[in-house]
Amino acid sequence: MPHQPIDIVPFDPHHATAAQWAAYHAYRRIRAEEDIPGEPILADADFEHHLRRRRPMDESRRVIALHDDRVVGNLLLDFRREGTPDYESFAPFVGAGGGVMQPYRRQGIATALLGALLAFMQAHGKRTATLGAAGPDAHAFLQALGATEKHSAVENRLPFDGLDWNALDRWQADATSGPGAHLRWEIHAGRVPLDRLASLMAPFTVLIGDIPLGALDLPAIRYELPAHVSWYEEMDRSGGEHLVVMLLDGDEVAAVCNAHWEQRFPDRVFQALTAVARPWRGKGLAKGVKAAMLKLVRQRHPEVRMIVTHNAEANAPILSINRRLGFAIHRQTVSYQIDRESLRRRLDEPGRIRLPPAPFR
Ligand SMILES: CC(C)(COP(=O)(O)OP(=O)(O)OC[C@H]1O[C@@H](n2cnc3c(N)ncnc32)[C@H](O)[C@@H]1OP(=O)(O)O)[C@@H](O)C(=O)NCCC(=O)NCCS
Repeated sequence: MPHQPIDIVPFDPHHATAAQWAAYHAYRRIRAEEDIPGEPILADADFEHHLRRRRPMDESRRVIALHDDRVVGNLLLDFRREGTPDYESFAPFVGAGGGVMQPYRRQGIATALLGALLAFMQAHGKRTATLGAAGPDAHAFLQALGATEKHSAVENRLPFDGLDWNALDRWQADATSGPGAHLRWEIHAGRVPLDRLASLMAPFTVLIGDIPLGALDLPAIRYELPAHVSWYEEMDRSGGEHLVVMLLDGDEVAAVCNAHWEQRFPDRVFQALTAVARPWRGKGLAKGVKAAMLKLVRQRHPEVRMIVTHNAEANAPILSINRRLGFAIHRQTVSYQIDRESLRRRLDEPGRIRLPPAPFR
């Protein structure tokens, strides 16, 4: 047990002092080494900018656990910004994440941080919290809390060196022979012009709607232009490229592969949505757009050593393509959900919170 009491307090990126930031940075570096050793993380100035920047579609709050002046645990809350389109369907939900430094675990600190989550849910009328677990401690903690496992996803990684470029040429060519012979390629590298991007939000939203999300109780994922505009502004600042490969059937998107590259992590490309419209499934189009994307990446960024992607564990078709390309599982993340009343009952149990939760707005 720490000798000094633990304080649970909000962390406000707009008013934090240099000393408070230094304590936060020290903590996040230790936590990154515990969970993702060797992985690059944001430089301090970039991280501070990231926390201060206004995101158009959503907001976040941060709470920290302090032992003396040392940050030893954190809670991050993410939720839809009020006034955004269709706010009502997002309003009941909050995403929560965070952690506790290893030497401080099993002392009730994460439970006390959840006291701040509950206070937030009560103050803002949130019904359901979604929390992710990647390691055994987090699973044990969320299971002890009584949260329900809803969805499992894997981060897959593909080393660039082992790729069979001849096979990829064939995959790309096969997509536009046979039934896809009349399809036409549209490829963007850098930025998609905003008017074109605007016209793609609706078809991309339809396509992402078919991605399995297990039993998660959440509104459907949607592509939204303001979020992209804001992301582009960030890439203008820090350096990066949005890469899009599509096969079009007239004006319709038959298949898409989306990815991005960031100058600050130049050895990797982050692969986002790959999807094929329902009438076009089973005709080799996903392999075609993936192959074209890999060739585009090689051509624009010879320094890239790996592709990183996230897939639902239940997504057999994309996992099969990814396995054939050489993707291997790097990390598994399971999403849990708990409703406000269950959380309250759990935290109200005698002796459950051993630290006083701070008032939190
Ligand atoms: C998950 C995590 C935040 C828990 O922090 P913590 O401060 O140790 O949690 P608590 O002390 O409040 O644990 C509360 C209860 O959860 C259960 N629990 C927590 N960690 C456990 C573990 N490793 N094994 C078994 N049970 C565990 C226990 O029932 C515990 O009560 P007890 O100690 O009285 O038995 C911490 O292990 C962590 O930072 N993990 C990595 C980051 C992460 O995955 N975060 C996502 C969390 S949603």
